[in-house]
Amino acid sequence: MISKHRDGSRSTAGNTVNPGIRFDRLMGRRQFLGGTVGALGLAGLAACTGQATPAAAQLIKPTDVLVETAEARRTGEGATVHPVVLTAQPASIDLGGPVVETWAYGEAVPGPLVRLPAGDRLVATVTNALPDPTSVHWHGIALRNDMDGVPGLTQKAIAAGRSMKYEFTAPDPGTYMFHSHVGTQLDRGLYAPLIVDDPAEPLVYDAEHVVVLDDWLDGTGRTPDSVLKELQAGGMDMGGMDMDGMSAGGDSPLSPLLGGDAGDVQYPYYLINGRVATAPNTVTFTPGTRLRLRIINVGSDTAFRVALGGHRLSVVHSDGFPVRPVDTDAVLIGMGERIDVLVTLADGAFPLIALAEGKNASGLEVIRTGSGAAPTADTYPRELAGQVTGALMLEAADDAFLAERRPDRTHDLVLGGSMSDYQWTINDRVYSDRKDLQVRPGEVVRLKMTNSTMMFHPMHLHGHTFQVRSATGRGPRKDTVMVLPGETITADLVADNPGQWLVHCHNVYHGEAGMMTALAYIK
Ligand code: C2O
Ligand code: CU
Repeated sequence: MISKHRDGSRSTAGNTVNPGIRFDRLMGRRQFLGGTVGALGLAGLAACTGQATPAAAQLIKPTDVLVETAEARRTGEGATVHPVVLTAQPASIDLGGPVVETWAYGEAVPGPLVRLPAGDRLVATVTNALPDPTSVHWHGIALRNDMDGVPGLTQKAIAAGRSMKYEFTAPDPGTYMFHSHVGTQLDRGLYAPLIVDDPAEPLVYDAEHVVVLDDWLDGTGRTPDSVLKELQAGGMDMGGMDMDGMSAGGDSPLSPLLGGDAGDVQYPYYLINGRVATAPNTVTFTPGTRLRLRIINVGSDTAFRVALGGHRLSVVHSDGFPVRPVDTDAVLIGMGERIDVLVTLADGAFPLIALAEGKNASGLEVIRTGSGAAPTADTYPRELAGQVTGALMLEAADDAFLAERRPDRTHDLVLGGSMSDYQWTINDRVYSDRKDLQVRPGEVVRLKMTNSTMMFHPMHLHGHTFQVRSATGRGPRKDTVMVLPGETITADLVADNPGQWLVHCHNVYHGEAGMMTALAYIK
């Protein structure tokens, strides 16, 4: 019989363990014992610490030589180094009227665009000028495990006042982002776009524009930490709505496109590139421009439906990887997802609108190629109500497709939750009590994610890009996939990047409330 405690620990057969310290303690003992203890000795240790991982399996740690070897394979001779300097700091940000005190990379939200060609090396010196520890995660990049930015799993958090150098090869072209991976810091301003250029870019276009979508509440009388506390206390304000994320009815925001609840948090602002809809950015091009939009959802609790008034969009990438092009009126993009589209611009002033799905609000940017009145915050172009394409409707392009092979192992991930104490779980466990998803290097691994809750979960895997298997066998290549209520998503990957990798819901509140686990390479 297992009973859950408020702090996320569990009692098993009257034996209480503190999951918060278990991992470190075991690692510490392993290091202490060195190579002199056989599997039996470790098994004995594991039994007495209650470690969920069978101890005979030795974890491939971020410091393992295999991590180095994998990185050497990715790094060509004489790869160019791209130095970047980032400071995570308190900042006062003008969102276009509202001025908020928040945490940001430098003095702007989003933070500075980082951009480099595929195969080159990023060397980012990150200084922590925040009062709290922080880290940087390079979302979507198949990088070396010790640079992945997950405190407790791949590194120690960067303490206040300290710096850390992140140094890695970016192997695959595409649209990515980076953000803090400590607590709820993602829902502050600690994020920025990351673009990896293809030196042999096959797409033909004239210009591009990065579109960063976010839901914003920090510094408006609430902080992400206070919101998480409210959620955990069970009394979410929801801007007047009552918080009951697990009930189908109630007053939760609903979205048919999301198959149920649209979110747990009502935000005062929805931003495109750091601006509220009442004071949008305007970007100008000439009529006829073939434009590539790189759309990134860095939101914490909001999926967006994105359209450009008066235009059809051609979807060309999902999560950085090419898809067979699909023409559509609008795209649906969950937290952590990226979608690239091509569009040929007409003559005039057009709303690029990001509808906060199910939440009755939107973000706005103006794309101008000619004269005409600028669209206003309440604009609702008909494309939003037209054909909406989500990532699952896409198919990987031939050069991105992972052909089906019999999996060496399959891991089931049942996504669950309990609203009474705001716990979100994977296989009925919160992160601190997780049972690792073990894999061995070189294996073909299948993840089967089943959503048993009433709310969608954008599930993100670090360090890999999986092949989603749709009914026809060919879905998109992705690192973040929305699993809707009642759905099962099958995602295959090749275990070619050794280390310890987080798998989690990219709703930052769900992740912090437990919905995370680890894909753990073992020897
Ligand atoms: Cu973008 Cu683990 O996250
Ligand atoms: Cu979730």
